[in-house]
Amino acid sequence: MGEKTALCELKHLHTAFRIKDSYYDAVDDVDLTIYSNEVLAIVGESGCGKSTLATTIMGLHNPNYTKVSGEVQFENQNILNISEDEYNKIRGGKIGMIFQDPLSALNPLQRIGNQIEEALIYHTDLDSDNRKERALELLKMVGIENPQRIYRQFPHQLSGGMRQRVIIAIALSCKPKLVIADEPTTALDVTIQAQILDLLTNLQEEIKAGIVLITHDLGVVAQMADRVAVMYAGQIVELALSEELFSNPLHPYTRSLLNSIPQMNSEDGKDLHVIEGMVPSLKNLPRKGCRFASRIPHISESSHEKNPVLHEVKPGHFVRCTCWKDFYFKEEDN
Ligand SMILES: Nc1ncnc2c1ncn2[C@@H]1O[C@H](COP(=O)(O)OP(=O)(O)O)[C@@H](O)[C@H]1O
Ligand SMILES: [Mg+2]
Repeated sequence: MGEKTALCELKHLHTAFRIKDSYYDAVDDVDLTIYSNEVLAIVGESGCGKSTLATTIMGLHNPNYTKVSGEVQFENQNILNISEDEYNKIRGGKIGMIFQDPLSALNPLQRIGNQIEEALIYHTDLDSDNRKERALELLKMVGIENPQRIYRQFPHQLSGGMRQRVIIAIALSCKPKLVIADEPTTALDVTIQAQILDLLTNLQEEIKAGIVLITHDLGVVAQMADRVAVMYAGQIVELALSEELFSNPLHPYTRSLLNSIPQMNSEDGKDLHVIEGMVPSLKNLPRKGCRFASRIPHISESSHEKNPVLHEVKPGHFVRCTCWKDFYFKEEDN
């Protein structure tokens, strides 16, 4: 990781969805700084609020049934307050996005070259020759060996892995400062996943952007992330440098995630469903106390009563748990 400059700061971020007549927080009081040039992974089981956090930063929520509050500070302004026009200039420009499903992110009726150039038309003042040159250069940069041919093809003519390379080319086309990648390899075959991860790892050094990498795959985190935020039921429950988190996990949820890492070569371990119990749905969140408590057998009564806050237990290592010490030392003693 390069020098530590704050690129994007999330402050007291809440995103609530309307279900019937009430609003429920899918993102609940998230405070998080993303630094330039770092890869910050966000991990957690399905339903923990990772994608909602990403789409909130991108300003993609419909105010008719979503309430967003707090701040997303990016380049000296709270982008939650800017107009849709201004957001459109940032999205796909200074902030690039890579989503899980490369097919639905591409327009089936347009040639690949056009789709890359569309972003360049909108966000740069390159003329048409230079746009084409840049598009071909981007295709090459994402490891496509015959850019001239792919430039003229349609999405359905490409494999899933190639399509994801194209999405990455589009995300990087305008030299973004921040890239948000939501499960970028989940929809791909295992071997292709590894290639795309290698590509992202190599590009990270070249593009010098901050990357938010959302994944439920801790193998991906270990390979790519500088820092890791663990999310549970809409909240960040632990945040630390990647090495620190893997060697010294403090929150019981993080510890169970790490224990559920599948063995190498196992293909069926894609989802982290090995932890007893389930992520509560929005309507069933406990009204008070630790949200993970119900999934820990024999937890002390106080965990159901006290609301833990995210607390820095050593420099750069934060945990939201009132009893992490009990767990930690009890297990160490055994
Ligand atoms: N548009 C929506 N309307 C209502 N609830 C939603 C909507 N999108 C997501 N949710 C709920 O918000 C929670 C977080 O979902 P999500 O952000 O997709 O989690 P993740 O990406 O970690 O799997 C889940 O309980 C999900 O059911
Ligand atoms: Mg998701």
